[in-house]
Amino acid sequence: MILYFSGTGNSLAIARQIAEKVGDKIMPLREAVGKDLTGEKRIGLVFPTYWLDAPIAVRDIVPQLNISPSSYTFVVITCGAQTNNAVWSVRRILRQKGVKLSYCNKIRVPDSSALAFGRNPNSQAWKFERYAPRLEQILNDIADEKHGFHYAGFDPLGWLLNRPSIAAKTQNSTRPVCNTDKCVGCGICAKVCPQKNITLADGKAQLGDNCAMCLACLHFCPHQSMEVNGKATLAERQYHHPEVELKDMIEF
Ligand SMILES: Cc1cc2nc3c(=O)[nH]c(=O)nc-3n(C[C@H](O)[C@H](O)[C@H](O)COP(=O)(O)O)c2cc1C
Repeated sequence: MILYFSGTGNSLAIARQIAEKVGDKIMPLREAVGKDLTGEKRIGLVFPTYWLDAPIAVRDIVPQLNISPSSYTFVVITCGAQTNNAVWSVRRILRQKGVKLSYCNKIRVPDSSALAFGRNPNSQAWKFERYAPRLEQILNDIADEKHGFHYAGFDPLGWLLNRPSIAAKTQNSTRPVCNTDKCVGCGICAKVCPQKNITLADGKAQLGDNCAMCLACLHFCPHQSMEVNGKATLAERQYHHPEVELKDMIEF
């Protein structure tokens, strides 16, 4: 079983490719909570890097998974540049559950947070071609149930940036807010939110306290009403993986 967490489809697209290669199924990470996965031959975790670490949602959910130490367990992390502490974190959580990580690797893709910093994620589409051979290698490694790690070890900066007191101050630049002048209350943001953190109140989207900062709401909003870092969202800077459609993010 390949479990994924994804806001803009990069991790979903890769989870799908792995599943296709090895003949397995995919499932959103959150759906796996409460399910007995101990009989699975392999357990894959595919997720992005956020703020030099695994998304907080992933760090919250992995401890709850019911998985077996005897499965071939692998992690593939998508990132704009570096994974920093993402593997270190999840490997540690798995170890605490008695599960030994068999294999992990990373793949560079367009950075879904780029627009928060004035850049266009779509202009990074070149990464798909540049890193296609690496992805092919990852797919073959997993199909062959290879063992090995391709990641940097513990990163003190990543650790520091994710201390709750520091994260609360620094990570607001990628926390979406709804511009209620633009919001028409269509509810697409609520449907794509993997955290079920968005509700509609008086016909406007309202974010709760459980935002994973995946930016699904921002990138899929047809009215560009979700904004980050005080910047108006431009339609040309909205991004999702080219092989992932809105329906893929909603239906499971
Ligand atoms: C809030 C946020 C923080 C991010 N932080 C990092 C980072 O620290 N390092 C990095 O290389 N990429 C970072 N990225 C880029 C994502 O890891 C990358 O675009 C990923 O593939 C998104 O996956 P998804 O499409 O499955 O959501 C960040 C993206 C977001 C939304």
